[in-house]
Amino acid sequence: IRDTLNSVVKDGVIDFTDIDITEEEIKKYSQIYIVACGSAWHVGVEAQYVIEELAQIPVRVELASEFRYREMPLVKDGLVIVISQSGETADTLAAMRMAKDKGLATLAVVNVIGSSIAREADKVFYTLAGPEISVATTKGYSAQLVALDCIAVQFAKVKGLITDEQYSYYISELQTIPEKIEKILQDKERIQWFAAKYANAHDVFFVGRGVDYAVCLEGSLKLKEISYIHSEAYAAGELKHGTIALISEGVPVIAVATQKHVYSKVISNIREVKARGAYVTLLTREKEITDPSICDVHISLPDIADEFAIFEAVVIFQLIAYYTSVGKGLNPDQPRNLAKSVTVE
Ligand code: BG6
Repeated sequence: IRDTLNSVVKDGVIDFTDIDITEEEIKKYSQIYIVACGSAWHVGVEAQYVIEELAQIPVRVELASEFRYREMPLVKDGLVIVISQSGETADTLAAMRMAKDKGLATLAVVNVIGSSIAREADKVFYTLAGPEISVATTKGYSAQLVALDCIAVQFAKVKGLITDEQYSYYISELQTIPEKIEKILQDKERIQWFAAKYANAHDVFFVGRGVDYAVCLEGSLKLKEISYIHSEAYAAGELKHGTIALISEGVPVIAVATQKHVYSKVISNIREVKARGAYVTLLTREKEITDPSICDVHISLPDIADEFAIFEAVVIFQLIAYYTSVGKGLNPDQPRNLAKSVTVE
């Protein structure tokens, strides 16, 4: 995260010279399309909230395998951002080529230097996460988040939508993330202890609103990928439209409530599942939960800007998945049926 930030933050401001995006181009983009697969697509779901909130540019996030085959009218002065750790994912590469054929500008957020997607994109933002060995991405995902959040902040500043103070605040908040993650990792034994409770679970639900929902998508995938336990991520407000029928005594629900503007809404959603017997693990930035009856386990995250709280939540999810996998005697580095990069359709 420090390396990704330091590649674009110079003397307290974001500098996209190396990425070759000019201020004129930024002002011209009337629409952003984010195209990716897997965890990279989850980064896109998060980035949609932050870019739309800060830069007020409409963002559409598409799975690359869908984008490449659907008839979708693309806005000519749109920017297509493709996110790919390997830079070789077949669907993402094909989707980018299709966008280029239609005359749109393409920006690749890629980790592997000189990969196909990096070479063919008009512009490249390298995430500098270093080689990622594990099939299930961790640092690659977080470095991609940094890149997309820098894009959101810089686009907002160039378009004059945030003040110099807000700009400096967001940049300094991004710079506090590494130390806050280090603080979370100091507490990993506690996470190992209650991860043991998921080892025999059959279904786990991850719920949140806004960017908390986006990080639930990643938390759910991590658990599926390396512990083979079925799980689903749900927008907390959507539970009552069907899925709550699956909540019964002891069903684990992991809830994230870091977003101030919807905090009380998520808490009321948690009360609904708790009333039906769910075993609730709640992640918040609050130090103490005012009403301890709403959850069985409470994890307090270090305070940080709402937009960036998911950097902390995702580390908790990665640890839960890791300890659950190891607790089940599985090998988290080589999950069955999965490949690090899917270079075929
Ligand atoms: C999957 C990986 O195969 O592909 C995921 O296991 C990854 O971790 C997804 O998010 C997309 O790959 P890439 O390299 O395009 O980010």
